[in-house]
Amino acid sequence: MPRKIVVLPGDGIGPEIVEQAVRVLDAVNEQYKLDISTQTFAFGGASYDQSGEPLTEETLKACRDADAILLGSIGGPQYDKAPRDKRPERGLLRLRSELELFSNLRPAMLFSELADASSLKPELVAGLDIMILRELTGGIYFGGPRGIETRDGKQVGFNTMVYSEDEIRRIAKSGFEIAMQRDRRLCSVDKANVLEVSELWREVVIDTAQHYPEVELSHMYVDNAAMQLVREPKQFDVIVTSNLFGDILSDAAAMLTGSIGMLPSASLDINGKGMYEPVHGSAPDIAGTGKANPLATILSLSMLLRYTLNESVAADQIEAAVASVIANGVRCPDIASGSANEQIVNTVQMGDAVMTALQDT
Ligand code: IPM
Ligand code: MG
Repeated sequence: MPRKIVVLPGDGIGPEIVEQAVRVLDAVNEQYKLDISTQTFAFGGASYDQSGEPLTEETLKACRDADAILLGSIGGPQYDKAPRDKRPERGLLRLRSELELFSNLRPAMLFSELADASSLKPELVAGLDIMILRELTGGIYFGGPRGIETRDGKQVGFNTMVYSEDEIRRIAKSGFEIAMQRDRRLCSVDKANVLEVSELWREVVIDTAQHYPEVELSHMYVDNAAMQLVREPKQFDVIVTSNLFGDILSDAAAMLTGSIGMLPSASLDINGKGMYEPVHGSAPDIAGTGKANPLATILSLSMLLRYTLNESVAADQIEAAVASVIANGVRCPDIASGSANEQIVNTVQMGDAVMTALQDT
């Protein structure tokens, strides 16, 4: 059975970085006879421009029928004035929700050669390897009631942070399972000193822990977690948290690694089907300049091969190729430290370097 991947280049730098990842995909597809076929659709702002909808029914159907989705990035200032429900972000949120991609894995790993690119001292981040597991289809992103309305003649905006026991239990379970495959330490991040929704979160996480006696469970309030991430990030192994807290903490963790341009992510449903995308956004300020770093997208492809298609040999090879490119000093501007033995390249040249390294590894 051929395996189907839907490719959604999206907006801003999305198409440029996805193009490089697709080159890598084509190469491993041929080398390992993976029998993968790809189909590309407009998504986000690009889709809105074509059809007035950020996610069309046709694209949604293709995503449902696919084994996995490879996404670039979406959004841009030109869509700020579009009706709220037509904005690119709504397309992304709807896709996550319709496909029930509740489990969002955001690893923050540092290639040792890039320790100088981090804003923290190299000794604080050298060897960093954290996994942030973010709940992706619930919480304040999707809770109701929500809206902006007039009350007593004044405008009021409101959202609802809501989690059911089942939603907490399934993400907690994912957290424990991931911790079991790593250093067996899970830190659940909440705001249980203020929010009832967090009180329940903590209770359910503790209850789920019974089934994972080998995992050391700890709890941290989100404000403290933000501080600890920049104070002593290596104390963490796996962090599990809610949608909004995970959104914020994963950007902070990304920066520890020198550049958000290096970090892949996976969003999985209960069966392991997934959507894979870089953690960074569409960076409209550098779109079309050749400055975009395609490595986060290439590493997202390797996660796709590993987690959804079970092609770990091909995934290993891609990761080895990226590591060797980094070791050789090849740098897009976002990961350059200014040292003399670096070679600064553009998006396509970074793709070239990975393609060459793939043949050598
Ligand atoms: C992310 C992004 C999205 C989010 C936006 C684009 C809707 O920031 O994937 O982290 O908030 O989830
Ligand atoms: Mg975010």
